[in-house]
Amino acid sequence: MIKKCLFPAAGYGTRFLPATKSIPKEMLPIVNKPLIQYGVEEAADAGMTDIAIVTGRGKHAIEDLFDNNRIIEAAVNGTDKESLLEETNRLMRTCTFSYTRQKEMKGLGDAILSGEPLIGNLPFGVVLADDLCTGEHGRDGILAQMLKIYEQHHCSIIAIEEVPEQDTHKYGIVSGVEIEPGLYRVEDMVEKPQGTAPSNLAIIGRYILTPDIFDLLRDTPAGAGGEVQITDALKSQINNGGVIAYKFRGRRFDCGSIHGFVEATNYFYSHFSASDSPRQPGRADNSA
Ligand code: G1P
Repeated sequence: MIKKCLFPAAGYGTRFLPATKSIPKEMLPIVNKPLIQYGVEEAADAGMTDIAIVTGRGKHAIEDLFDNNRIIEAAVNGTDKESLLEETNRLMRTCTFSYTRQKEMKGLGDAILSGEPLIGNLPFGVVLADDLCTGEHGRDGILAQMLKIYEQHHCSIIAIEEVPEQDTHKYGIVSGVEIEPGLYRVEDMVEKPQGTAPSNLAIIGRYILTPDIFDLLRDTPAGAGGEVQITDALKSQINNGGVIAYKFRGRRFDCGSIHGFVEATNYFYSHFSASDSPRQPGRADNSA
């Protein structure tokens, strides 16, 4: 059973300036729910209730989201707005939250390595909150799907999806042998390929990592973009424990881009705005 899930959340989110000048990008809402909460819900639904968040300067709003706010609670208590806090409250009841800071912006690999003191020596999940993922209706979320694959293979698992060839330079790209429909034993991987990509199978922001990744990250030199890349450390695992890539069932929105953010907003608004379920974003209205 994997209990821990790491959320690298130290990035500046410069594509969303000026909003991200004072708001962490992970707190930008899709309809009324902050991006990071979607990710924490996905982790908690997969049984990963020890939430470890790697933050940086100016990210206090994330800690405040998962903490009591007696003034707001008193203000909505007994009103029709009370249910809007239910899901956040559920996460606060069922999960623990711990935080550490990435000291320098040295890349995703370095951010994950910064989380080592919160994770320790057990396999763990990783969620990049700006990849907002949703499973097929009524089915497992992406992390829960990946957990089942981990239980069979006991090695690092990465989520992938097919992207158009002209977009491969934006992602980590894997190639490998399909061992079951949608399941690949990875043979090669490259972060943000400049020339011809080995395939169009792009890594998306969900990982299950075995803890040897930390030692590998310590030995991983800066790669694409001058940053320490998790893709490069994972490449070292290919011949040392193996890596499985999994074409997940569901949808993923790239909420690190304006286009994906708007797409996700429209999707969640049209799918859930009429729902009374407190688990989903609430109905938009005009009240303050
Ligand atoms: C990171 C990873 C990359 C992956 C992507 C998914 O890149 O390094 O391998 O494909 O997330 O969103 P970033 O988007 O942080 O540049």
